[in-house]
Amino acid sequence: MGAIDEVKQKIDIVEVIGQDITLTKAGRTFKGLCPFHAEKNPSFYVYPEQQSWHCFGCNKGGDAFSFIMKKQNIDFGEALRQLAQKAGVVIPTRFEPGVESEEKQKLYQVNQAAAQYFHNLLLNSPAGKKAQGYTAGRGFTEQTIKDFHLGYSPDGWEGLKKYLTERDYTEKELLNAGLIIEAEGGKTHDRFRHKLMFPIMDIRGRVTGFGGRALDDSMPKYTNSPQTPLFDKSGTLYGINLAKDAVREQDTAVIVEGYMDVITAHQNGFNNAVASMGTAVTEKQVGILKRLTRNMALALDADAAGEEAMLRTVGYENTLDAEIKVIILPEGKDPDDVIKEDIKVWQELVAESVPIVDYTFDRATAGLDLTTAKGKASARDRLLPIIGEIKDNVRRAHYLQKLAGLLNVSERDLEADLARIRPGQVRRQATTPPTPVPVRSSFSSPREEFCLALLLQHPELKSQDEGLLPDYFENSENKEIFIAWQQRAKIEAIRKKLEPAIHEHLDSLATRKLLSNNLEQKYARCALELREKFLRNLTTKIEAVLALEAQSGGTAAELAKLKEMGTDVSSQLGKVLAQKSRLRFEQRG
Ligand code: UTP
Ligand code: MN
Repeated sequence: MGAIDEVKQKIDIVEVIGQDITLTKAGRTFKGLCPFHAEKNPSFYVYPEQQSWHCFGCNKGGDAFSFIMKKQNIDFGEALRQLAQKAGVVIPTRFEPGVESEEKQKLYQVNQAAAQYFHNLLLNSPAGKKAQGYTAGRGFTEQTIKDFHLGYSPDGWEGLKKYLTERDYTEKELLNAGLIIEAEGGKTHDRFRHKLMFPIMDIRGRVTGFGGRALDDSMPKYTNSPQTPLFDKSGTLYGINLAKDAVREQDTAVIVEGYMDVITAHQNGFNNAVASMGTAVTEKQVGILKRLTRNMALALDADAAGEEAMLRTVGYENTLDAEIKVIILPEGKDPDDVIKEDIKVWQELVAESVPIVDYTFDRATAGLDLTTAKGKASARDRLLPIIGEIKDNVRRAHYLQKLAGLLNVSERDLEADLARIRPGQVRRQATTPPTPVPVRSSFSSPREEFCLALLLQHPELKSQDEGLLPDYFENSENKEIFIAWQQRAKIEAIRKKLEPAIHEHLDSLATRKLLSNNLEQKYARCALELREKFLRNLTTKIEAVLALEAQSGGTAAELAKLKEMGTDVSSQLGKVLAQKSRLRFEQRG
């Protein structure tokens, strides 16, 4: 998870704004006197569910960041640092590009050069052509070899080392990148020899490490890069650079185990597959995907999924607010095998995936006789701790009912047991009322991001005025980027203007793959859609307040004003929708 998202997740807007102004609870909202204009009756509302605020007096609104920025008259970076401190999140500082980042940049370059070297050898050298016999045997097309930048590492000891040192990379850099190994006596040699090479890339397509597969049955089957300043296996998802767009568009990611699974999946059109690289899925990996989607499906080999790993994964659902399903594979087969045998079978398995907690139920009770006291007790012992982990009250109650039904005992008995294993939670609940976990939509906002990617990559669109306003961007980072774009054209200049914590987001937008047809229409369309989203949000907010005021007796004048505003917004919305359908008509015609 990026630092900014982490900050957003950890702060609560009611608390942040509540430090500056007195808020009183009103239905599902909080209200108070607006700090941005003089008023006697409160028209300033905070919406915990959307984590946003709006003032109906001066018609300003936004999120926690924009509140602090406006209130203290500071920029985004300063607001971010304040909130980060409050949330206990470390933000990369403004003047950092010091030793480490220079070192890292060099390592990215070494890796890129090595990937190029391996790729070239696979395509063009005699030994590489032989290795192509292996890729052909696995069913890889030429296009796949190019897309994944597959390579061949030659059989000698120093092929790569020579190639790179002749190009002014130092032995130390090669060692740091994990490309060569220092043997006893200090002599160094290539790590990867006579292997099919898989460059491993981060979400931005930078090579962070390599996997190499033996070209026959020799062991070990795979050799991977060691931990380096760039490569951390537990925080890496193979294929993420090629999968990210599909994951976003389909709003689901499929997590498989291996390199081969990812490649075969993509070659067959399942572009949302990424690999955890042979280990149990980690929180970091789920965190990376979480920026693209909340929905994930793990393709699990029935016996690979240890109970302990499963329990951890259930935990990620809680901490990261993700929904994780399990795709159950036929015994002894991996996705690579299944997809190659019959695409339809794979599609069915994906469609039949089950929520991870249900899957855990099935597995935990598989070998037990649930008609006996012993069987019931051990099912309870295995499953109650998992149920106890579930933070969401409704989901927890659901699974408690499910377990009670399975064991044919009363829920109350189970509740008593649950209270015993969750003493911490229970005690906390007894003293303070449970704080409702605010329902937050995923922080990424696909419409906003698509629009920004378009604008960043085609600054010429600036001359086309679509009436897009900064306020239409709900996400503060996106808003910042849009404002910077309005002021300058070149991506480098925009980058300089922005807070470093936003750079990664900016880069991913600037390099996102887009089709370059019908740019003007696409811009017109997404500008309209953002305006529509903005107006719809406003409508929801007005309605919430109207319902409230009608009950609690707001003055007639106030009510009339709000109603008038509501009418105005809905007539604007009507216009937007009409424009949208006109646009659709023109595009078709
Ligand atoms: P598998 O053994 O399932 O390999 O390991 P695979 O991807 O299906 O490869 P083929 O089909 O046998 O050629 C799954 C993943 O675990 C990691 C790799 O990332 C591999 O893709 N792994 C496995 C290693 O890192 N080292 C090993 O020795 C084995
Ligand atoms: Mn395999």
